[in-house]
Amino acid sequence: MSIEYPPSVSLAYLPTPLQHMKRLSDSLGGQTLYIKRDDLTGMELSGNKIRKLEFLLADALRKKADVVITYGGVQSNHCRATAAACAKLGLRVHLMIRGQAQPPYDGNLLLDELFGAEVTFHPAEEFRAQKERIVDECIRSYQKQRRKPYYFPVGASVPLGCWGYARAFEETLEQLKALGITACNMVTAVGSGGTLAGLLLGRELLGASDVTVWGINVCDDAAYFQQEVRQLLEETNDQFQLGLSVARIPIHVIDGYVGEGYAIPYEDEIETMKQVGRLEGIALDPVYTGKAFCGMLDQLRKGKFRKPGLSDQEAIVFFHTGGTFGLFPQKEHFRFD
Ligand SMILES: Cc1ncc(COP(=O)(O)O)c(C=O)c1O
Repeated sequence: MSIEYPPSVSLAYLPTPLQHMKRLSDSLGGQTLYIKRDDLTGMELSGNKIRKLEFLLADALRKKADVVITYGGVQSNHCRATAAACAKLGLRVHLMIRGQAQPPYDGNLLLDELFGAEVTFHPAEEFRAQKERIVDECIRSYQKQRRKPYYFPVGASVPLGCWGYARAFEETLEQLKALGITACNMVTAVGSGGTLAGLLLGRELLGASDVTVWGINVCDDAAYFQQEVRQLLEETNDQFQLGLSVARIPIHVIDGYVGEGYAIPYEDEIETMKQVGRLEGIALDPVYTGKAFCGMLDQLRKGKFRKPGLSDQEAIVFFHTGGTFGLFPQKEHFRFD
């Protein structure tokens, strides 16, 4: 069985590697841990967003849009990936950034400017409270100039974007099959829900019931994301007439690893990042993958991924969804003595 995808534009380097984390697995007593290196979808285009953008920007081009509008936080990976992809495709891009301009710029924001994005800053509270009005004004201002804007929200977590991670699911399943693995757990960070929704869509369309997909939220809470992801799956099902029974899809979101809040790192997380760095030479990021990996290891210790009747834990595939440029602006949280 294979999936019929909507049209897309090729931007990411695919397939990304699926690597065995051998030294880390050994240190955990033999648990088989793999990492799906979606931080290697590109350099400037790295991370999970680019898989979603392959579908959205194909649609923008098809509709003859000439400016792409989206928004995110100051260190938004989504905004940076959108800026890079639009530069490559010759599309103008307007990024509405939630927060203050504090030059000199660092990390993703530095890259947004480097890629020629039009960047506007909006006080965070006001943006949260009046997002629809602010976005609407931005869209209208381009329409008044007789331009054709194409808008999508933070994380590109809309039905069309979901196909990116349905495709990632299929790609990973093939890599696992080549290794002789059919049953496993897949784990991803959840920030706006599109990655988790996409993986679940892939699982459903391929009938891969031996794979359990887990999300670990890095903001809000499990109940919020269960609802968001189900709604996104419902919309995708309706929009593409997939005939899925969405109410029956199990949506597992593990809460408890947000810490004090979105993008605020904590000690266990930093220790996990150091452990992964020292044993595997892999850099996680402090906003998404650091928290999700920390949560995954904690849940592993608690036996979460063990199936009834099995003595060993099944293999785990952690999706490294990128975020590397967001590490450097948070350097003050890291001490090495
Ligand atoms: C590096 C990284 N990992 C994970 C996520 C979470 O993905 P999603 O927004 O699809 O839940 C994001 C974005 O939110 C991200 O930038």
